[in-house]
Amino acid sequence: MCGIVAYIGKRDAYPIIIKGLHRLEYRGYDSAGVALLDGNLNIYKKAGKVSELENFAKDKNVNGNLGMGHTRWATHGEPNDINAHPHYSESGNMAIIHNGIIENYSSIKAELIKRGHTFESDTDTEVLIHLIEDIQNNSVVTVDEAVRMALAEVIGAYAIVVISKNDPDMLIAARKGSPIVLGIGKDEYFVASDATPIVEYTKNVVYLNDGELAIINKGKLTVKTIENKIKTPYVQELEIKLEELEKGGYDHFMLKEIYEQPRSIADSMRGRISSHNSIIKLGGITEYESRIANAKRILIIACGTSWHAGLVAEYLIEEFARIPVEVEYASEFRYRNPVLSEDDIVIAISQSGETADTLAAIGLAKSKGALIFGICNVVGSSIPRATDAGAYTHAGPEIGVASTKAFTAQVSVLTLLALQIAHKRGTISQSRYMEMISELESIPAKVERTLMTNDAVKKIAEQFKDSRNFLYLGRGYGFPVALEGALKLKEISYIHAEGYPAAEMKHGPIALIDAEMPVVVIANKNSSYEKVVSNIQEVKARKGKIIAIVTEGDEVVKHLADYSIEIPKTDDALVPLVAVIPLQLLAYHIAVLRGANVDQPRNLAKSVTVE
Ligand code: G6P
Repeated sequence: MCGIVAYIGKRDAYPIIIKGLHRLEYRGYDSAGVALLDGNLNIYKKAGKVSELENFAKDKNVNGNLGMGHTRWATHGEPNDINAHPHYSESGNMAIIHNGIIENYSSIKAELIKRGHTFESDTDTEVLIHLIEDIQNNSVVTVDEAVRMALAEVIGAYAIVVISKNDPDMLIAARKGSPIVLGIGKDEYFVASDATPIVEYTKNVVYLNDGELAIINKGKLTVKTIENKIKTPYVQELEIKLEELEKGGYDHFMLKEIYEQPRSIADSMRGRISSHNSIIKLGGITEYESRIANAKRILIIACGTSWHAGLVAEYLIEEFARIPVEVEYASEFRYRNPVLSEDDIVIAISQSGETADTLAAIGLAKSKGALIFGICNVVGSSIPRATDAGAYTHAGPEIGVASTKAFTAQVSVLTLLALQIAHKRGTISQSRYMEMISELESIPAKVERTLMTNDAVKKIAEQFKDSRNFLYLGRGYGFPVALEGALKLKEISYIHAEGYPAAEMKHGPIALIDAEMPVVVIANKNSSYEKVVSNIQEVKARKGKIIAIVTEGDEVVKHLADYSIEIPKTDDALVPLVAVIPLQLLAYHIAVLRGANVDQPRNLAKSVTVE
């Protein structure tokens, strides 16, 4: 969380920084600020979104070819102007922006106060820049050396950029636990939390590794470790296209991303099913295929929507590959003492590839000798670099904070994985394997057809936009979909919503049902269809309002339900890919009708780099 962007070169830094901050706003939008070096070191910062910073800075001096900006998701200190980044050092000659948490900041702060430092904000970040300046003054070292020495004292996670009035040709960036990408142009450099602010200027990037500093001085880049070892930066080419970062005519990124799903699902499978012999091959696991196929157990770790994709994977892997699967919240997994061995396979799922809890859980699993397989969307992010093997989901940049196309891409890749392992283990018959492949190939078209329910879903949204609670029910593969539908609604409309296994309703949630309670039921035709029909009757008997997701042509549930949305028939195991679409649309339309900020819901951030 928190987005950072910086520029050093010959252009005006301010417009590059502001544009970059807009791109990074998904990482947090509690406050925004810039620091620009134009003889003086000028800092402008404001609580609220980047647009408020722009208004504030309108009549200020925003000149300078060296500068940096920050968009904040508050951790230490409330989101006001003072706590906004950048922060000045004691003398006001240096400034810092920071993404992450300095855990030992209070002891460092106490020490610095004893030495006469005064602090304006409540942040851990301000403490760090004071420490850097203190070291520079006391040890009489260059500013980059002072940064390195300070970081050696710091415990915690960070991505930082430091600039100094006395060194107008220098910019220093460093990372540990939070991402930093360097863009390398001709006589200019860009620094950002991800590649999106950089892509229109250069395709050449360096992803800084944990524990590394980048020192750009007089046009030259040096990368070294905190232990002062020089490293050779690995320059790679960016794959993102600029158009992918624009709304392309849609009102919101979320809607654009919902509509992109026929393509993103196809992209996630592209090249992974051979057209001549219909064999699934996820290149990333070839080397480990036997080890995965022989695993005694598979553990899936993830957070949020990715955790829901993990639940779908549990059903898929157990059904097809017959390997026991446990799905864990990364945050819970890492704080108990999990039983893990070298025979275990861990699958870490993450859209951003930066989620701190998932990264830490990977570290723990690694220390116990498990093989870690990553499923991530953001190329070059931390999780793919921390895992033994993996597969990218290739959904393209997802900018709306509420995850949509990343979920369906994750589920598609996990389906391929389950089928590939099953095939290798011989736990699936050839005919069923072929049937699943052909059904999978038809999913993008079925999702396209499901998107045509948009107007019908919008009408339902109009009916229920003022509801205070929602219940989502599903069985089997429909259960993770119910959880995901409820999460989408909570995230963007702020309506309380709960997902439940349909059969569990009678053990508690049924007490909540009255005429005010909309109940969304995933009621597709499958082996538990009759049971779901009974659950619908139970809700109706208590006057609850049923919104049913039904298989095309199902007249029974259509008659029972108050509202229904038809989805194309598909294999039960692939229902999540189709049934989630109307739930994404329902959440979207309700949020829009309630006037909520769909792409940037309050208090949330897309990339959660704090624990
Ligand atoms: C945040 C996002 C969610 C996301 C979760 C896990 O809470 O708002 O959309 O599902 O983090 O993120 P990851 O990038 O690891 O999938």
